[in-house]
Amino acid sequence: MSIFFDREKCLVTLNTRNTSYQMVKGEFGHLLHTYYGGKCDGDMSYLISYIDRGFSPNPNEAAYERTYSLDLLPQEYSGFGAGDFRSPSLIVENGEGASAVDLKIKDIRVLDGIKYSIPGLPSSYANPGERVDTLMVALEDEIIGLRAELYYAVFEETDVITRTVCLINKGGEVLTVNKAASMTLDLMQDEYGVTHFRGRYGKERMREDIQLGHGSVVLGSRRGISSHQENPFFILTRGEVTETAGECYGVSLVYSGDFKNEIEKCPYNSVRIVSGISDEQFSMELAPGEDFWTPEAVMSFSENGFEALSDSFHRHVRKNICRGPYKESRRPVLINNWEATYFNFTGEKLKNIARKAGELGVELFVLDDGWFGKRESDTTGLGDWFVNEEKLQGSLKDVADTIRSYGMKFGLWLEPEMVSEDSDLYREHPDYAFAIPGREPVRGRHQLLLDFSRQEVVDHIFSQIAKVLDETGVDYLKIDMNRSINEVYTRCGRTQNRGLVLHRYVLGMYDFLGRLLERYPDIMIEGCCGGGGRVDLGMLCYVPQIWCSDNTDAIERLEIQYGTSFGYPMSTVGAHVSIVPNHQTGRVTPIETRAAVALAGGFGFELDLNLLSDEETDKVRGFIEDYKKDWRLIQQGRYYRLTNPAERRIFAAWEYAADDLSEAIVGIVCVSTQYNQPPEYIRLRGLDAKGRYYCEQTGLSYSGAALMKGGISVPEFRKGEYSSCLMRFVKKY
Ligand code: GLA
Repeated sequence: MSIFFDREKCLVTLNTRNTSYQMVKGEFGHLLHTYYGGKCDGDMSYLISYIDRGFSPNPNEAAYERTYSLDLLPQEYSGFGAGDFRSPSLIVENGEGASAVDLKIKDIRVLDGIKYSIPGLPSSYANPGERVDTLMVALEDEIIGLRAELYYAVFEETDVITRTVCLINKGGEVLTVNKAASMTLDLMQDEYGVTHFRGRYGKERMREDIQLGHGSVVLGSRRGISSHQENPFFILTRGEVTETAGECYGVSLVYSGDFKNEIEKCPYNSVRIVSGISDEQFSMELAPGEDFWTPEAVMSFSENGFEALSDSFHRHVRKNICRGPYKESRRPVLINNWEATYFNFTGEKLKNIARKAGELGVELFVLDDGWFGKRESDTTGLGDWFVNEEKLQGSLKDVADTIRSYGMKFGLWLEPEMVSEDSDLYREHPDYAFAIPGREPVRGRHQLLLDFSRQEVVDHIFSQIAKVLDETGVDYLKIDMNRSINEVYTRCGRTQNRGLVLHRYVLGMYDFLGRLLERYPDIMIEGCCGGGGRVDLGMLCYVPQIWCSDNTDAIERLEIQYGTSFGYPMSTVGAHVSIVPNHQTGRVTPIETRAAVALAGGFGFELDLNLLSDEETDKVRGFIEDYKKDWRLIQQGRYYRLTNPAERRIFAAWEYAADDLSEAIVGIVCVSTQYNQPPEYIRLRGLDAKGRYYCEQTGLSYSGAALMKGGISVPEFRKGEYSSCLMRFVKKY
């Protein structure tokens, strides 16, 4: 049992293995938050302070009791307009245009052994045999007839609590919902900071630490995608937090569209987190009897630093978010032709690349952009999902069959949400694209967005694509999305609920992915959005892996993969070896280093292997063998960040350790050489202190305790800048 409901006190405690979360009914019926942190027993409501504060109003029913103010009390879900001036969870207008919601407890239910699901939206799930309990607290504002059902699912093992809210209009008039967050969390006063993962195209998820001052830190996206610029996952730190010490909270959204994460330090130093769909392009009419579900929010807490927090997220994502046959099985080693050819290929050229790759042990060939319509550059052809047989010198099936004859699987690139103006689709159905009447649409990478909020548009694209997949037989899809979303305006004549179009677009995109998986359950889909512009838990409910960044420079990747690893397991990170000089940075790195960095994720290649020297070719064969041997450790082992590549400028290091402590691999890359450099050490993590480990590379054996407490000395990188090594430690007894 993970949920304890004390009916007498109207007190509910959610317990995971290492954390407790608690809420209680306030004197006037509001749902107050008492505690979230390390595991605790008993009634924590003594922590709530009731103090009379000027300009903090009191509910009418409190009469002359001035110490009860919603402006100060920690709440689970706070409506705007009823006396709380902090950032609200919910803003709702009645038919008169008045905004006030005062939510009071109406019902509390514990749903034993049930994980809620959310209609139309992806969310975490319980595995067969795994017990997940759900708490449902129904709050109501009887005056406007609004019911908000708050759901909390408790994933005991991974220390994760997930939340969603269902709004139901129980009244007689249409309500306008202008903001509906997925969660609010009010925490006691302390010195808090925020660690978030910002970036830009080609430089995604750069860690940034902010000390929280008074006012709000607002992290979000208004690009219609979760974005390269800000990731929906963030961490609230309490005091000083390192990898292995300190308290921190992680919050992530299972959503791929606009989001807003607000972290507000309030006048009396408490902190409020509000997380959910951004309210900026959102507004909806909720008619009597209708309901609206928010996306799921995922929370976890660690009192042992970032490492344990990441581990909870990693396990949750791997076990309770990712699905399908590739969730736990080995991903094929792939080769993608994008950086090898860009648009400039023929069937012959592709087969050449594939033949060599097949000889070296690569298992999947991915045909990237340019195989369809009149797609010779990024200005044309999107939306025309029929094969360009002239360019391929035959049918796509011919190409695929030849590649299969090399012992490889066949994969294909798609960008279903887009249309080029120079395409048959656009000429036939210009209204399928987002555009505001009277305005010429803004282009992104020369292309426009299809209005995926419309079922007929999704159907049209789906049937075109299904035809190609049926004819060709495809084992893998890379589903891309290459621009931010503008001019969210549907041209299908619907006038109602325009503020819901972007959300419906996201639902349409999920519907598309869901239908693909239903019809082709064995296809592995890799997500992509100009590299890592849509790395979020919503996508990961459909795809087990995401192309992490278009930046394939091994040295830049160190920081991108480091930042990504805070909220996402490395099993979800697509990483490829590419050619040098690197196409994004011009940097030259040894092939061992490119492989070492790519071996930290879903391993693949993005170059023409025919261009390598014999020596490099032999090495490639070895890397592929290494991946086939070590994939379990990489996909399912515990991941440790041994250095922060942004801080430690000489080398970067990371580690995978088996859950049963039997082995570990440490990756080290020299990022800048120095003459006469002082000795450097790294301490390993996740070993059996009493065990004895042998290291192939040093030829020495060490006790687990020595490796974790004393560490190893970093090899001198005499081979120069950007050299690297992978060190394997195997437990002998
Ligand atoms: C995006 C992807 C790349 C490649 C191109 C093709 O930028 O991130 O990997 O597929 O599109 O146009």
